[in-house]
Amino acid sequence: MKERLENLRKAAIDQLKEAGSLDRVEEIRINFLGKKNELANLMKEMGKLPSDIRPEMGKVANEVRTEIENFIENKKIEFKEILLNEKLEKESIDVTIPVDVRFVGKMHPITLVISEIEKIFMSMGFSIEEGPEVDTVANNFDRLNAPKYHPSREMSDTFYFTEDLLLRTQTSTVQARTMMRDKPPIRMISPGRCFRYDTPDATHSPMFHQIEGLVVAENITLANLKSTLETFVSMFFGDDIKTKFRPHNFPFTEPSAEVDVTCFKCNGKGCSICKGEGWIEILGAGMVHPNVLENCGIDSKKYTGFAFGMGVERIAMLKYGIEDIRLLYENDSRFLSQF
Ligand code: PHE
Repeated sequence: MKERLENLRKAAIDQLKEAGSLDRVEEIRINFLGKKNELANLMKEMGKLPSDIRPEMGKVANEVRTEIENFIENKKIEFKEILLNEKLEKESIDVTIPVDVRFVGKMHPITLVISEIEKIFMSMGFSIEEGPEVDTVANNFDRLNAPKYHPSREMSDTFYFTEDLLLRTQTSTVQARTMMRDKPPIRMISPGRCFRYDTPDATHSPMFHQIEGLVVAENITLANLKSTLETFVSMFFGDDIKTKFRPHNFPFTEPSAEVDVTCFKCNGKGCSICKGEGWIEILGAGMVHPNVLENCGIDSKKYTGFAFGMGVERIAMLKYGIEDIRLLYENDSRFLSQF
């Protein structure tokens, strides 16, 4: 019996060593280990053996079975690896074959300008706030100290839903929201869409983008406003660009100013971009009016602040030399692919 088991082991292993394919290995497995085959037959006979040698033969039979099984397993792994390698070789990609260049989308110039400005202010420690496009008359006008009969409140300038709800005309709404929510120190910018009742032309659009800025803390002065905006201008437009603060009026700041920069195209000499002026207006700014601080729950005796607001379209048009604002909304891929 033992000898037959040994022969079986040897025959199986020999055949497996010769086997040239996965199918052949499977065939050998069925021949030797399958239900009706050699080892099974031997096991059946085992029952007839005298009981003193039966356990030992059983042990040998198990060893033979395990050995053949292990051998088959290893053989299978070996073949699978070979097959995989063949497949990989056949399917390898020739990276030198020329391909059709696919059209790849690009960032919209408005998005580009907003993210560049965000990066600059984040590097100065500003947070980025968001506010809703539909807001209250209180946040858009009342809390911002706009007089009851200020022209910007007119139906002909502002899109109203109801007496109390409108499409915000400026991102200054987020000043009010942030001051009501947070305690000073506050240092934030807030980009977003605004809406005004304008007929579209080369420089007007009823929907446009602004970036608001607000800093409120103890001892904030006009000098802080100037240095912050000058830092921004030199980081965004370049070191050689000069700024000029021109007195202006906004209900929510006192004093107020409009900020001009020397024309980056002609460097102040006068050209088509600056319309011969040498200077270009880029934003409105000022010291937060004490009424606004109080309207938003901030002690105006303890805290002061500055705010600014810039038109993103205007800055994008200046930066990229875009002559008609409407190009920014038409989504013509021939235009958009230039940026
Ligand atoms: N909200 C003003 C505008 O829309 C801009 C501005 C913001 C001015 C903050 C001063 C301070 O014109």
